[in-house]
Amino acid sequence: MTSGPILNPGPRLLIGSGRTPALADLLPDGPVLLVTDQAVRGFGLADPLMAELAKTRDLVVFDSVEADPSRATLIAAVGAGRAAGVQSVVGFGGGSPMDVAKLAAYLLGSRDDLDSIWGVGLAKGRRLPLALVPTTAGTGSEATPVAIITVEGGEKRGVNSPALIPDLAVLDAELTLGKPRSLTAATGIDAMVHAIEAYTSVKAKNPVSDMQAREALRLLGANLVTACEEPGNREARQAMLVGAHLAGLAFANAPVAGVHALAYPLGGIHHLPHGLTNALMLRPVLSFNAEAARQPYAELAAILEPEAAMLGSQAAASRLIERMEQLVVASGLQPRLRDHGIGREEAPMLAREAMKQQRLLVNNPVPIGEEDARRLYEAAW
Ligand SMILES: NC(=O)c1ccc[n+]([C@@H]2O[C@H](COP(=O)([O-])OP(=O)(O)OC[C@H]3O[C@@H](n4cnc5c(N)ncnc54)[C@H](O)[C@@H]3O)[C@@H](O)[C@H]2O)c1
Ligand SMILES: [Fe+2]
Repeated sequence: MTSGPILNPGPRLLIGSGRTPALADLLPDGPVLLVTDQAVRGFGLADPLMAELAKTRDLVVFDSVEADPSRATLIAAVGAGRAAGVQSVVGFGGGSPMDVAKLAAYLLGSRDDLDSIWGVGLAKGRRLPLALVPTTAGTGSEATPVAIITVEGGEKRGVNSPALIPDLAVLDAELTLGKPRSLTAATGIDAMVHAIEAYTSVKAKNPVSDMQAREALRLLGANLVTACEEPGNREARQAMLVGAHLAGLAFANAPVAGVHALAYPLGGIHHLPHGLTNALMLRPVLSFNAEAARQPYAELAAILEPEAAMLGSQAAASRLIERMEQLVVASGLQPRLRDHGIGREEAPMLAREAMKQQRLLVNNPVPIGEEDARRLYEAAW
């Protein structure tokens, strides 16, 4: 018997505009913890679901999740859930509330200590029933076994375990219609990077993750600029949610790599949005990988731009990098570190920090050492 990855199937899904309140009937009886953030709560996005849940059970709302959530926030969410004896957890929002909900459901159900489960495969206990409702089309966290918490010193740490894949998820375009352009752009690019990095993930790439990544990139590439320019376009918003979910499934089965590894210090230290940090490191890292990943990049280029199929693989791989940069700019993001107050002299410190992301670096098509990382930050400046 040869070895190989065990694939993650993802959650059961409700797909379609306005379907979120139907979740209430699918959760077990007993008190529910709903984890969200203040802005999402303020927009009233969760109101229909909360009204439906409150008809039949006690509802505890924890709405203090910040972007790039901290350990303290997670512990507070667990405390709120434990005090109320909740029997299930709903994560409602972008990647930040969803990640807190995933770990809160796990810690409440298993009673494990957070510091014993960082890394891959160590969370082996049972979590509470968990449903996730994304309000950004980006992280795909509702599909993945991963949750990211920012710990002391700005380091982003992950827990990766099948126990974190939710039971249920809802992909409801209604919740993303009000997303501002910059958030639509950043989260959309994040999702595209998930698809690209899954497609070249050296150890775990497989036929299922390839199919998920290809279809994700097709949907995201065809709809990102429309979603930015026509925020109320339901079809484009729904396609972005499905694309981000498929990209999440792709990297649940073939983990992300160098772009994310180098993006994380920018988020942890400078608190730039996660998707933007990926956009900033995209061109340098893809260019660094281009020779080793020539064939897969050429295949992806043809998905974004059918004419690229007529090119040789080297030219087609270059087209992927150019096309992604065009999309970054067309979506309205500023693509260089200097545009975001980051100094060129920070490159060595950022490179040192990036080396902590070995969990991701091992998936890159070519090794990235500290000296390479420094040069890549300088190229991104
Ligand atoms: N678990 C995973 O697999 C995974 C993958 C990638 C990233 N992440 C993590 O996810 C986090 C980033 O998540 P994110 O990019 O979705 O952003 P986020 O959850 O941090 O939210 C960013 C901002 O967008 C606002 N927002 C959310 N939905 C909105 C809507 N519909 N309309 C208007 N504003 C809205 C929020 O209130 C917040 O202010 C990071 O912590 C990152 O590390 C996790
Ligand atoms: Fe990401």
